[in-house]
Amino acid sequence: MTKTQVGIIGAGPAGLLLSHMLHLQGIESVIVEQRSREDIEATIKAGVLEHPTVELLKELGVGERMVREGYVHNGIELSFGGKRHRIDLPELTGGKSITVYPQHEVIKDLVAAVLANGTTIEFGVSDVSLHGIDGTQPSIRYSKDGAAQEIQCDFIGGCDGFHGPSRQAIPASIRQEHLKVYPAGWFGILCEAPPSSDELIYAQSDRGFVLISTRTPDVQRMYFQCDPNDSVDNWSDDRIWAEFRARLANDDGWQLKEGRIFQKGIIAMRSFVCETMQHGRLFLAGDSAHIVPPTGAKGLNLAAGDVVLLSKAIVDFYRRDDRAGLDSYSARAVKRVWRGEHFSWWMTNMLHDFDGEDTITRRFRQSQLEYTVSSRAAAASLAENYVGLPFEGWQG
Ligand code: PHB
Repeated sequence: MTKTQVGIIGAGPAGLLLSHMLHLQGIESVIVEQRSREDIEATIKAGVLEHPTVELLKELGVGERMVREGYVHNGIELSFGGKRHRIDLPELTGGKSITVYPQHEVIKDLVAAVLANGTTIEFGVSDVSLHGIDGTQPSIRYSKDGAAQEIQCDFIGGCDGFHGPSRQAIPASIRQEHLKVYPAGWFGILCEAPPSSDELIYAQSDRGFVLISTRTPDVQRMYFQCDPNDSVDNWSDDRIWAEFRARLANDDGWQLKEGRIFQKGIIAMRSFVCETMQHGRLFLAGDSAHIVPPTGAKGLNLAAGDVVLLSKAIVDFYRRDDRAGLDSYSARAVKRVWRGEHFSWWMTNMLHDFDGEDTITRRFRQSQLEYTVSSRAAAASLAENYVGLPFEGWQG
């Protein structure tokens, strides 16, 4: 049996960031994680960090490699009707930009920092369960190498993602949840090629959405909208490139740079919010409480916003016996979550054609795209949301 102040379930961005922010304020934690370190450090996820997330990571002393190896992007392009239109992020947001730095690189930096703090991360655990969250001494039970283990703590940080046990520990009768499943998925590839564009291209076409993103000067990340029930086995490299070419046909003479594909995967798209982000001594942060479709690249950035509020609330409890931050955590965190959720839904609808839509919906989409690239107010609204709205209670 182990005792600590905060028991954290999940070594994703939310759990690692929470542990690190607490450590900087002298509060100890232990993290349990079902997967191995190698696995979490290699899983391919999205790659866009908002302005507030970048500033936060720098201030926490975990931004050094991000600054060195990440790519600052000052714009994105919206492509439709065979033409590309640039959204100038700093010009529209008073100087803010985004940074392309993959989530698994953030994970590597945070794991290194948390271990250097002397904090234990128990990787490869199973049968994780939560106990006593209604009382003052909650605990986390799990198995490691066949042996039963227990962590007794004052608080539990439920940072174990959409499928983890934390959210399920809140009685279903009081959980307020909202779910929307989209009738499309994203087919993502990694390929060896030079960048096709200096900036991310979000492309709408009658054959469906395409996103051209990047990782390094030699590795590119690209996605095309697909049937969420499709299989990667149905897509040869030739068929993938033909589909990209067809969707990206344009009048600008612009051409996609192709190369060897070394990773393929299909991502589901859903919007999900559990508004009940706390119960007793359990506090949810990140994907355990909310999921966004990938279109706005908001997932990790929303997790960071939760953790800023939660870590401050826990610090106020220990330092000043002030429970106000804890008591109001859910109500405050969910506000930024809903903004990110709405923006992700809005971007998704503006850029994807869905099967079975009526013609009026398609005309609305066209009008929205044209308005977004021709009105400064509309472009500024997209840019403000895309670079990320400020974290409550934190200057960045
Ligand atoms: C990515 O590079 O993986 C990426 C970028 C932007 C998005 C989603 C994913 O909106």
